[in-house]
Amino acid sequence: MLDLINSIRQSSDEFHIKNADDLDKYRIQFLGRNGLMNDLFEKFKAVEPADKKQYGNVINQLKNDLQAKFDSSKVELESGKDQSISEEWDFTLPVIPDLTGSRHPLTIVRERMIEIFERMGFNLSEGPEIEDDWHNFSALNFPLNHPAREMQDTFFIEKNPDVVLRTHTSSVQIRVMENAKPPFRTISPGRVYRNEAISARAHCMFHQVEGLYVDKNVSFADLKQTLFHFVSEMFGKEIKVRFRPSFFPFTEPSAEIDISCLICKGSGCNVCKQSGWVEIGGAGMLDPDVLKNCKIDSEEYSGFAFGMGIERMTMLKYQVRDLRLYTENDIRFLKQFKSN
Ligand code: DAH
Repeated sequence: MLDLINSIRQSSDEFHIKNADDLDKYRIQFLGRNGLMNDLFEKFKAVEPADKKQYGNVINQLKNDLQAKFDSSKVELESGKDQSISEEWDFTLPVIPDLTGSRHPLTIVRERMIEIFERMGFNLSEGPEIEDDWHNFSALNFPLNHPAREMQDTFFIEKNPDVVLRTHTSSVQIRVMENAKPPFRTISPGRVYRNEAISARAHCMFHQVEGLYVDKNVSFADLKQTLFHFVSEMFGKEIKVRFRPSFFPFTEPSAEIDISCLICKGSGCNVCKQSGWVEIGGAGMLDPDVLKNCKIDSEEYSGFAFGMGIERMTMLKYQVRDLRLYTENDIRFLKQFKSN
């Protein structure tokens, strides 16, 4: 008798109820009119009266357990739980997130700048980061005694004053003009280097975008319109632009370009030092001597150039207050930037 009871319990345990069909089979096999439990009760009738109490308890317990298995499987099936999934897997646990990368803020801003200028007909040009004195300074009209040539500003290579890490992307203007015939309409994004101590506001490596436009009859109005359009695309139509007279050796006249402060909208804050304006770069009409240095007839052609810092642009767009964040690669910083 006990063997029979144990074998019924074992077959019930081994019976996996995965769907409604199984549930029905289980019911017929174990609990139905001709099922194993009824068989057992039949056999129980023949048990010696003295043993009835002992076996009766065990059989009742078995019947209750089988009924409970049936009932709970039924409830689970009706609530949609899939019994075919092994119990070793708990699919309700939270997933370990798949870390997807995002683009660096400087990349996002550089690509946006390129996109805006490309729509205005500018192509892309590049030059080397290790430059010679001619392309970085002399051809751009830097006099021999200009302070930018001194050691504290420029990284010179192997103590050879003719080889420098370029201090600005204006060197690419010269390479473009030397190597092709006007008209030119090009922008040159790239890394530049200066011998500066690293702090929140200065870095020894940063990025600029240089612009160059040379053709017949290019005027200051063309320069202004190009940069006005750029600013309204980059920062919004409500942003104002102003040109402040300035000096660069390679442009005449020269200007620094300010835009109304994006943070306080011009009313004055600590980013714009209460002035309502922030600088985004320099620009000007190409000095005829620079055209001559590149063997371009300055009577026939005129042009403008501009240079803007990508870090600065990004700082203004995303309110990044510390330049060092760009190169520290802290994932908590980087993951905050989405391209759109
Ligand atoms: N090269 C300048 C700098 O690094 C920026 C600049 C000013 C570029 C005026 C230009 C320009 O092309 O016309 O500070």
